[in-house]
Amino acid sequence: MTIAVCPGSYDPVTLGHLDVIIRASELFDVVYVVVSENVEKLPMFDLQTRKMLLEEVIKSSSLKNVQVDSLTGENSLLVDFCKQVKANAIVKGVRDMLDFQNEFSMSLLNYNLAEVETILLPAKSQNLHISSSYLKNVGINGGSIVNMLPEIIYSRVAEEIEKRRKFEKLRK
Ligand code: PNS
Repeated sequence: MTIAVCPGSYDPVTLGHLDVIIRASELFDVVYVVVSENVEKLPMFDLQTRKMLLEEVIKSSSLKNVQVDSLTGENSLLVDFCKQVKANAIVKGVRDMLDFQNEFSMSLLNYNLAEVETILLPAKSQNLHISSSYLKNVGINGGSIVNMLPEIIYSRVAEEIEKRRKFEKLRK
């Protein structure tokens, strides 16, 4: 049985993430989508909410071989999770050279930490401009995010962004 792990901050999950998860689910028997903290990023949604949004998306996409999990606690290295579930590879999407640079160095790190392989999937052209950071930035500044994320979670994400917008207005 082949097993993949698709890790990320998923703050929130976008159409680009979903495409990579779907493609991984076609290449591997089982896919674990693992929500994690990225110490370099301050999230908009807490870990539980990000996981819950992903679970809704996976359920509505009828992806039977995909499970959502999270890395929590003090010892939450991705490679430890990969070893625990006996994963064959980490799968991540890349949109551009900047992504490639980051993912390439993370793949070297993860291989050196625990000999866990990484497979990088190039993003589809329609998703090249989509990222969780851009989605939040566009939304906070009053733009439309409807084409950037799975429809099933649109209202929940838009509601949170609207809350932040109101808060920002009050602060000004
Ligand atoms: O979506 P992101 O922010 O690019 O994902 C980065 C993530 C969460 C995969 C990475 O930060 C991670 O693996 N964090 C878990 C802790 C860990 O294993 N760190 C060592 C590799 S950076």
